[in-house]
Parts: sequence; C-alpha cells; structure tokens
Amino acid sequence: MSDFHWYPGHMAKAKRAIAEDLKLIDVIIELTDARAPLSSRNPDIDAMANGKMQILVMSKSDLSENSGNTAWTEYFRSMGHDAACVDLKTGNGMSRVKSLLVDAASKKHEKDKKRGIRMQRPLRALVCGIPNVGKSTFINSMAKKNVAKTGNKPGVTKGKQWITVSKGIELLDSPGLLWPKIEDERAALNLALLGSMNDEVIDLERLTSELTGILKARYLQLLSKLYGVSEEDDTEAVLSKIADEMNMLQKGGLPDRERAKQFLIDSFRSGKLGRITLELPE
Ligand code: G4P
Repeated sequence: MSDFHWYPGHMAKAKRAIAEDLKLIDVIIELTDARAPLSSRNPDIDAMANGKMQILVMSKSDLSENSGNTAWTEYFRSMGHDAACVDLKTGNGMSRVKSLLVDAASKKHEKDKKRGIRMQRPLRALVCGIPNVGKSTFINSMAKKNVAKTGNKPGVTKGKQWITVSKGIELLDSPGLLWPKIEDERAALNLALLGSMNDEVIDLERLTSELTGILKARYLQLLSKLYGVSEEDDTEAVLSKIADEMNMLQKGGLPDRERAKQFLIDSFRSGKLGRITLELPE
C-alpha cells in the first residue's frame, strides 16, 4: 500500500518526468479508482495533455457498484473523455480499453494521411495515475509476453521499452506517476478510505465516522444484513454491533469498538463489505 509524501520537490520532479514522457506519446491512459474516480484522479493532466488524446480507465471496478460504474462512465464521456471500467484481477473490461486504443490509432492514421506522412509509426500510449490505482497491474496485463525491447531502433528514445498491445499500438512500459490533488476534506477522506494515503494523516475515528455515514446513507441494507445495523444507529452503535457480531470483545465482555473500527475499514478496502462506490457524479 502506498503512502503519499508529496513535498513540492517531489511534485516538481514527477511533473518534469511526465512532461518528458508526454513528448514521446500520442495517447494518455489515465487510471483512477472506480470507487472514487474523481478524488483519485489529478485533473492537472488535462492541461498537461495539451490536446493529446486521453482515455480514462477506472480500475477496481470489481470493488465498486455497477450503477456507480455506469454513472461515472457516462459522466466522463459527457466531459469529453473516452472512459472505461476495468477489473484488473480478471481482465474484465480490458477489451473495451483495447478497442478505444484501436479507435485512437485509426484517428492518428487519418491525421497522418492528411498531413502527407507516409511512413507511419505506431500509436504510442502512456499509462499514468496517482499511487495505488493499478498502473503496474494494468501494464502487466497489457504486457503478458508482448514486451518489445525497441530501445535500439533508430528514432526511439534509448532506454525506453515499449509493449506492443496490438499491430500499430505500443505502450510505454513504465507508468507516469501523478500526484494526488487534494482539493477538499472529502477528497482527502476518500483517498484515505481507499488506502491511498498514509493512515496516520487522518485518524481512524474520523475515517470510521465518514465510512459509516456513507454506508448508512446508501448501503444500509448491506450493514443491516451483515451486522444487524438499523437506521437509527449512530457510529458508536454501528461499531458495537460489528464488534458483537464478530466476537470482538474486551475484557469483561464489552464490545471492542477500537478493533471494530479497523475491521470495518479493512473490510471496505478488501471488498469484503460488498461493492461500494464512495462518491457519485453530481
Ligand atoms: P500502482 O502501480 O498504481 O501503484 O498500483 P498497483 O498496480 O501496484 O496496484 C495496487 C493494488 O491494487 C495491488 O494490490 C493490485 O493487485 C490492486 N489492484 C489493481 N487493480 C485492481 C483491480 O482492478 N481490482 C482489484 N480488486 N484490485 C486491483 P496489492 O494489495 O498491492 O497487491 P496484491 O493484492 O495484488 O497482492
């Protein structure tokens, strides 16, 4: 699990590295976490893209709700982004990403033809995103046995390796690291709930009360089925019910709410609570 330690120096370095990679590519594949796609993306990439094609891939869609996945895909499309949801554990949704890349390649082909370019090079893509959104897993899934060492070919930057996704489409084998854009407390809480932020930054108490709030508002059925929680239960009551149900008891038989807090957060992160989307488009 990654921590965020984004001092201005780190941020400037990451920004320079991405800017260098952007010079080599035609398409940006930005990964975000489908459970909170807005909090886990960095919109700065839109300006850095400077008109390059962009594909937004929401990973971990196996952990988020289907209706949320559909709503976010439509939202990003309405904002002009090609978007797709993927489950990188099973590869579900990857064919959609590949077909978006094929579309992008044919757009590039047409553009090159109009410009009179006859020796067309492959479409090149870069995967980027904040820590923990599945960049390495995505690249590995694309790579399988297709890593092509093209570093010594003329016209290709030395040291860079490209993965052939399909004929005429290549992916840079190392991801671009984006920094989180924490614009408000809600985004910070969402990132902390996803496990993408050092757990010491936001205390467990605050995190648990945020999560129980979301669960009670939108996933009460789930809480009620698992732990017998009802609408009138406040955070403390929810934690007591979880502790009772899971047999987490202190000496003297009282429910161990401290243990229940960590258990609830871990169960959310691993998907054991069920498929949960933390934020929805407005
Ligand atoms: P990063 O390069 O962006 O930092 O992310 P990375 O690929 O390392 O993925 C971070 C974690 O998220 C990994 O779990 C990875 O397995 C998991 N992951 C990535 N995509 C998906 C997905 O679509 N669904 C689910 N359920 N998990 C996904 P880990 O705990 O670090 O390792 P492990 O569980 O694979 O052992």
